Amino acid sequence: MCGIVGAIAKANVVPTLLQGLSRLEYRGYDSAGLVITNQGMQRLRTTGRVTELSKLVALQKIQGYAGIAHTRWATHGEPSERNAHPHFSGAESRIAVVHNGIIENHEEIRAGLMNQGCRFTSDTDTEVIAHLIAAKLKECKDLFKAVCLSIAELQGAYAIAVMEESNPERIVVARNGAPLLIGVGKDANYVASDTSALLQATRDIIYLEEGDVAELDSNGYRIVSCLHHLLGESVERTIHESQMTSDSIELGPYTHYMQKEIFEQPSAVANTLEMVTNAQSITSNLFGSEAEKIFSKTKHILILACGTSYHAGLVARYWLESVAKIPCSVDIASEYRYRNPIADDGTLVIGISQSGETADTLAALNYARKLELSHSLAICNVPESALVRQSELRFLTRAGPEIGVASTKAFTTQLAVLLLLTATLAKMRHCLSPHEEQQMIAALRHLPVAIQLALQVEPEVKKWAQKFSQKKHALFLGRGVHYPIAMEGALKLKEISYIHAEAYAAGELKHGPLALVDKEMPVVAIAPNDQLLGKLKSNLQEVHARGGELYVFADADSQIAESEHLHVIRLSEHAGLLSPILHTIPLQLLAYHVALEKKTDVDKPRNLAKAVTVE
Ligand code: G6P
Repeated sequence: MCGIVGAIAKANVVPTLLQGLSRLEYRGYDSAGLVITNQGMQRLRTTGRVTELSKLVALQKIQGYAGIAHTRWATHGEPSERNAHPHFSGAESRIAVVHNGIIENHEEIRAGLMNQGCRFTSDTDTEVIAHLIAAKLKECKDLFKAVCLSIAELQGAYAIAVMEESNPERIVVARNGAPLLIGVGKDANYVASDTSALLQATRDIIYLEEGDVAELDSNGYRIVSCLHHLLGESVERTIHESQMTSDSIELGPYTHYMQKEIFEQPSAVANTLEMVTNAQSITSNLFGSEAEKIFSKTKHILILACGTSYHAGLVARYWLESVAKIPCSVDIASEYRYRNPIADDGTLVIGISQSGETADTLAALNYARKLELSHSLAICNVPESALVRQSELRFLTRAGPEIGVASTKAFTTQLAVLLLLTATLAKMRHCLSPHEEQQMIAALRHLPVAIQLALQVEPEVKKWAQKFSQKKHALFLGRGVHYPIAMEGALKLKEISYIHAEAYAAGELKHGPLALVDKEMPVVAIAPNDQLLGKLKSNLQEVHARGGELYVFADADSQIAESEHLHVIRLSEHAGLLSPILHTIPLQLLAYHVALEKKTDVDKPRNLAKAVTVE
C-alpha cells in the first residue's frame, strides 16, 4: 500500500529520501510528500508522482539532515495535496507524521481532539495521529513517550514515522500490523517500509516487531517493545544483512517492470526450485523441519489468498485432488472469515501471498487459527513478511522483488511450489511411484526451459494485441485446471489495459455468457491437449456458430486448426502437468502488449496498489 522512508544523518538526506520514495512508488502512487527539518520544517506534497516531487524539491533547493517521506494509496480521503502525507499537528510544538495502514478508531479520536480545540485540515485518519502525539507531548514533554502513549490509544494497523519541529535531532517510529524496518548506516540511520527503499544507503536492516517503538538519530537507535508495557521495555533486535541486489530492483534494459518480470520467469522458477532440481528425490523438509510430521497428519487442505495468489490456489486444488488425492478447498481470504466456515480436524491451512502482508490474507489466517486450525504453511516471496513469520511451515518463492502491480513471476513461482507440494504429499500418501517421482523431478527441472520456449510466442501475441486494444470487452474460457488460468488471463488484461474481461469455465458458456458473443467480443480459449480438449472444442464451436472471434492458445498436440475467425497460437510442446504454468505466459504477454497499445501506465495501473495492507 503506501510507502514510508525516513533518514537522519550528518549530511543532506534529501537525495536518499527521493530515491527511496521512487523505489517504493509501486506500493501506492496517488500522491507523495516529504518533510525536511532545516531551521523549522519544510513540507512539500504533490498529487503527482515522485518525479514531480523531485522537481519541486529541486526548484525550492530543499536540503536538510533529517526528514520523513511518503508515497500514498488513498484510503481515507481522496488523492489530493491536502490529504497527502506528511501530516502536521497544529502550529504549537508541531509534529509531522507519515503513516501506512488504517486507524480504525480515528473518528472517535478526532472528535475528542476537536473538543480540545484541534483543527483538522485533511480527511485522513493519519492526521489524528499527529494531533494526538502533539497533545501527549504537551503533557509529557518527550516525543518518544508521547508516541508510546499515543499508540496505546490507536486501534488498527499502522507503521508510522514521526518528527518534532522543535527537536529535529530524532525520528521516532512505531509499528503494529504494517511492516517497518530500520536501516543502520554510518553516521546515519534510516527507516522504511521496505528494504528496497534503503539499498542505496545501507544493507544492514533491523525488522521491527509488532508493538516496537524506536528512536533514531545520526549516531544510533533505541528500540523498545510496547506490547506489554505502555512505555515499553528496551529490546535488542538482530541486524540482518540484506541480500537484495540493486539489479533486482532496477529496470535494466527493459521498458517496464512487468516486462522485466515476465522475462525473468525462467530464472525466478529455477531459483525457487533449486533445492529440488539438484536433488535425487522429493522430501518434505523443503517446507520446514516439522513438515513431515504435519503432512503425515494432514487430511484436508484449505488455501487462503487474494488476487493472483488466489488463482494459484485454484490451480493447486486440481493438482492436490487429482495427483495427491487429498481434499482441498480454496477461499478468497476476504470471504473466508465472514462466512462462518466449518473447521475440520487435520486441516493444513496454506496462505499464498507474494508480499506476505496482504491484510485480508493475514486476517483470514488469523481467523483460521482462532478456529483452532493450528497447522499452517506460507508460500511467500518476502522472507521477513508477517505471513512467513506467523506460519509454522514455509516455502519461499525466490522470484526476487516484484515491482509491477500486475503479478507475473510471483504467480508462476507459486505454481511451481504448489506442484512440488502436490508431489511431496502424493509421495507421502503413496500416490506417486518412484518412477513418477523421477518424472516429476525431471519435469520441474525442465520448467525454466519450457517457460523460455513459451516466451517465444511474443511476436505472434503482439499481433493479437493490436486487435484486442480496439475492444471494450473480452471473454476468457478454460476447463479443468486451465479454468483458473483463464481467470488469471482475464485479471491481467483488466488490471493493466482497463478492458473489461471475464473468465468462464467453458462449460458454463451456454448458461449465460454466450448471449454476449458477437464479432465485437474476442473470446480467448486455453486449449492444451488434455482430457477435456474434446469438450472444450464443442464449446468453441458454440462461439464460432454465433459469429464470435476466437483466439486460442493451444499446445503442440492440440488438434485445432486455424480458420476464419479462429486464430491459434501454439506453444511448442505439450507440457502435461506443467501446462497451466506455461499457458500463463502468453496471457501475461497479451495483457502487457494490449496495455502498450493502449498506452496505459503498465506498472502502476490506475486505482491499484501492489501490496494491499488494508481490509
Ligand atoms: C494486489 C496486487 C495483486 C495481488 C494481490 C494479492 O491486489 O495488485 O497483484 O495478486 O494484491 O497480493 P499478495 O501479495 O497477497 O499475493
